[in-house]
Amino acid sequence: MTALTLSTAGAATLRADAVVVGVAKGAKGPVIAPGAEAVDTAFDGKLASVLDTLGASGAEGEAIKLPSPAGLKAPVVLAVGLGAAPEKGGAYGAEALRRAAGTAARTLTGAKKAAFALPIGSPEDAAAVAEGALLGAYAFTAYQGGDSAKGGAKAPLGEVALLGAKPRDKAYKAVAERAVALAEEINRARDLINTPPNDLTPEAFAAVASAAGKEHGIKVQILDEKALVKGGFGGILGVGQGSANPPRLVKLSYTHGKNAKHLALVGKGITYDSGGISLKPAGHNETMKCDMSGAAAVFAAVVAAARLGLPVNVTGWLALAENMPSGTATRPGDVLRMYSGKTVEVLNTDAEGRLVLGDALWKASEEKPDAIVDVATLTGAMVLALGNRTFGVMANDDAFRTAVHETAEEVGEQSWPMPLPAELRKGMDSPTADIANMGERMGSGLVAGLFLQEFVGEGITWAHLDIAGPAFHEGAPYGYTPKGGTGSSVRTLVRLAERMGEGDLG
Ligand code: BES
Ligand code: MN
Ligand code: ZN
Repeated sequence: MTALTLSTAGAATLRADAVVVGVAKGAKGPVIAPGAEAVDTAFDGKLASVLDTLGASGAEGEAIKLPSPAGLKAPVVLAVGLGAAPEKGGAYGAEALRRAAGTAARTLTGAKKAAFALPIGSPEDAAAVAEGALLGAYAFTAYQGGDSAKGGAKAPLGEVALLGAKPRDKAYKAVAERAVALAEEINRARDLINTPPNDLTPEAFAAVASAAGKEHGIKVQILDEKALVKGGFGGILGVGQGSANPPRLVKLSYTHGKNAKHLALVGKGITYDSGGISLKPAGHNETMKCDMSGAAAVFAAVVAAARLGLPVNVTGWLALAENMPSGTATRPGDVLRMYSGKTVEVLNTDAEGRLVLGDALWKASEEKPDAIVDVATLTGAMVLALGNRTFGVMANDDAFRTAVHETAEEVGEQSWPMPLPAELRKGMDSPTADIANMGERMGSGLVAGLFLQEFVGEGITWAHLDIAGPAFHEGAPYGYTPKGGTGSSVRTLVRLAERMGEGDLG
């Protein structure tokens, strides 16, 4: 991955392919953000007016390349928009910095090294720039020729040199290390999401988890299809039984110590969701390799927690299955006996996420963790409700739901609290089984949440993140968000684990 270095060199003197400066929207046109003074000096103090002439306004998303004047070591200056300039004495917001750094890194694909002379006034600012740059530099090229002469993919930016972050200051060193671990794990989640479903089967995903566990001191236990039968995991088996690629339940345990708090994370890992016998129509299945994004996020968060040595115990549960139609597939009308003992009438085989999660939630509950958070690309309804960039947060505890929402906001992820209205439960009443896997169409994202709640152990604090919108980005890249898998919710999960370790949660 792209390397991160902290440098004391000046913006004019560091040897690099490009120097990145920030430009913001001022009252009377673009203004140069702090950190780029030496670059401005090389332009005789006229960089803002040059950028103005070139049409720059300082708006978020802008990226303008200029050849450097004499006096700068880097041959190219890249000016990226930061949005509105802060009031006098104020600082740029973390998300503005993250996005501008991401835009810069993306724009510099193919370059070896760039000096980032963005406004860094604190370790938090340095963290935001580092995260944005490392996430923005991401590219998924594993399946491309890599021959740029033939239109193949260029290599991502090789090195991000942060200027203004003090390399000998412990606080800066710590945030840089955290940013690298976090970004590498988010990018690992993105790789998993982007890997085509013919290669990323449940078994292959479990093998990746197993290898990462060895590398980072995480205990990994894998239940294969035989063990799942033995254990009575009817939900996971019912979803996976139509596929030639059998299901898995993977448990990842990062243990800090006996007396530490315990956070359990549960991820939906449908490596491909065809809908099963309730087959999705064309137009709805092209991106369904992304249906394991919840499991990818959980996996990444556990590894990040281990790499950072967080003072909390984190267990990750990956409920992995492929939802396919076949002669052995679950039919609409079948009844499954879940791991909890509850029976479920499957009315729609495309409502499969709640079936695998129901088993994993009940299993996770047996350990009586201090809190459970599940993450899933669960419903199209959540995308209709909140759009493509915001995940929904449901919970059985108002304070915990608020804490999750605020934690997401703190790390720059968009989320919104959603209710679990009790009256929607009766829509899932089944004449044959304890519950049906479908209810009323209206509010069906919340219905899915209510279904999951039935599989959370008594008295356990639980939140459900429906990331169906933000998990997979189909539009043009922006900021640090690439096309394809985004790694949505990883930063929120890691921050939640940190907060629990700080005694600030659960
Ligand atoms: N994986 C889908 C949800 C989804 C939709 C994820 C769009 C990402 C983007 C899920 O398994 C599903 O098919 N849900 C159904 C449930 C319905 C049958 C009750 C849905 O939302 O339509
Ligand atoms: Mn489905
Ligand atoms: Zn699904």
